[in-house]
Amino acid sequence: MTDTIDHTLEELRRFPPSQHFSEQAVATEAEYHEAAADRLEFWAHRARELLEWETPFTRVLDWSTPPVARWFDDGTLNVSVNCLDRHVAAGNGDRIALHFEGEPGDSRSYSYAELTTAVKRAANALSSLGVTAGDRVAIYLPLIPEAVIAMLAVARIGAIHSVVFGGFSAESLASRIDDAEASLVITADGGYRKGRVFPLKPTVDEAIARTRGSVRQVLVVQRGDNDIDWQEGRDIWWHEALADASPNHTPQAFAAEHPLFILYTSGTTGRPKGILHTSGGYLTQAAFTHRSVFDLHPQTDVYWCTADIGWITGHTYVVYGPLANGATQVIYEGTPDTPHPGRWWEIIEKYGVTILYTAPTAIRTFMKLGTEIPGRFDLRSLRLLGSVGEPINPEAWVWYRDVIGGGTTPVVDTWWQTETGAIMISALPGITTLKPGSAQVPIPGINIDILTDGGAPVTSEDGGLLVVTDPWPSMLRGIWGDSERFQETYWDKFGDKYFAGDGARRDADGDIWLLGRVDDIMNVSGHRLSTAEIESSLVAHPWTAEAAVIGVSDAITGQAVIAYCVIKQSHESDHDPAEFERVLRDHVAKEIGAIARPKRVYIVGELPKTRSGKIMRRLLRDVAEGRPIGDTTTLADPAVMKLIEQMSRAR
Ligand code: PRX
Repeated sequence: MTDTIDHTLEELRRFPPSQHFSEQAVATEAEYHEAAADRLEFWAHRARELLEWETPFTRVLDWSTPPVARWFDDGTLNVSVNCLDRHVAAGNGDRIALHFEGEPGDSRSYSYAELTTAVKRAANALSSLGVTAGDRVAIYLPLIPEAVIAMLAVARIGAIHSVVFGGFSAESLASRIDDAEASLVITADGGYRKGRVFPLKPTVDEAIARTRGSVRQVLVVQRGDNDIDWQEGRDIWWHEALADASPNHTPQAFAAEHPLFILYTSGTTGRPKGILHTSGGYLTQAAFTHRSVFDLHPQTDVYWCTADIGWITGHTYVVYGPLANGATQVIYEGTPDTPHPGRWWEIIEKYGVTILYTAPTAIRTFMKLGTEIPGRFDLRSLRLLGSVGEPINPEAWVWYRDVIGGGTTPVVDTWWQTETGAIMISALPGITTLKPGSAQVPIPGINIDILTDGGAPVTSEDGGLLVVTDPWPSMLRGIWGDSERFQETYWDKFGDKYFAGDGARRDADGDIWLLGRVDDIMNVSGHRLSTAEIESSLVAHPWTAEAAVIGVSDAITGQAVIAYCVIKQSHESDHDPAEFERVLRDHVAKEIGAIARPKRVYIVGELPKTRSGKIMRRLLRDVAEGRPIGDTTTLADPAVMKLIEQMSRAR
């Protein structure tokens, strides 16, 4: 944390908005004043202006039973109608909603009219399979148009989707299916990644075999053409189900607080938590932030958010925000370097992308490759760049603007979380003078503070804990099936102020700098991983006696996962440390998913512990980051750290 502060204090570059950008900007200074004068009326106004309500709401916020907020709760709407039908009814049916680029080079575009018809068919297909409002549907798909169609079809009939990232293992998928008691899974035979087909359906089969049996059917999209097993009576081809379904569908309106989706994310314990979001408030803030933070001009912009639908960014800024706003967007199935390292820039040139939203890890990876590759493509269509998922270091920010944005585009660094549902802190392009490295200011209608551990406001430029002081429309409404954990995780610390789990500081101008997590959650390439979850996976291996996992700074991925393991005496002489390391790294990847695979697993004789048995991760972090080891006087056996240091250096 200290390094970050030192570094950010040196950052003095400022980028005021150009007159040209300000003149056409969607966001207005007036919105800040409007929100400051009457916050609830500000959000009510946005909800009415940006969405179509079947029954208009008369109540804005009910916060009488914290921590569960109710927004617009006597209003009704259909989320899918807001993302589709109303644009067609407004005469924009021919506007492209999705330009899909497959990794092998195939492409398809859907107009709003075509996407609406596909979603209607899918909604009818789901209903005919017996899915009804409130049922949970697990979605385990590559980033292909069917993923978007599936999510909107589930929403259209009032069912609840739980999208599971395609990189998660059978075990991770099974635990999410069980927790939500999903009755249907939508998957594909396989998808394309790094030039190869990665199978999905076999993982679903394996996952279902491990569940407690809630799944009745599996809808399978044909994508990879890989061989798959087929269970008659349970498995159904998506294309056949849709072909049999009617293209007409009369939508039903649901209450604003009707659940829309569950999305699992890592917490500080071994078990992921199912973050629950509802309809009207979520869609309001998704649409508002997508419009104002990305300066969306739906008639002319081509927007591209590179996130997968398995993450919250894919939910809010690939599916719900852009489609609610009638935007034209690009989705890309594959990796940035397939079949060549300029693939993203080629896609931007091909579709004339004007707004790009991606993660600092991707930017740093491109930085390492140099300016020559993007230099081969025409990127002049870009007029706005966004960043999300982790702090963006000023060097990467400036490179992004200079090399990708031609030295002119604003860059907005957006802070938010799975739990917040939508952007909370960000500059507004055309208004804010940009400061590389800082997420800057709360968006209008959001109240943020920085507190000491004891709950007092931090008045100096010292760091503290980030809180959201008042309920916001897209806030989580709970953790699926675990209201106690919801209360404990976010609300026990500061009463009715939401504790985000991030450290932050405010500079003399009032701009906010994010300083990373203050809990045991790591952030690797913008993805959340829990130290506890990886530790419990490691100790589940028959060789492992004990494990400690830490996140250490990494120049490209932000943080990297490093594990220290003690091998059981009975197995100590079975293998050499390199073999133990290889097997344990693979074990975690298999148990949780490849994103959780530790970068290194160090085999050690003992872990550094206090006399009461608490593992001192701080000391392990010192070793892993190459710092002198801090105070070891509280260790039960101070000699342990010397040994660990020697072992880490030796390999
Ligand atoms: O630590 C913060 C970091 O990512 C966490 C949220 O992760 P997740 O729920 O997976 O959502 C990621 C996409 C919204 C936060 O607690 N984080 C996210 N955006 C930023 C960030 N840290 C610094 N700057 C950001 N812009």
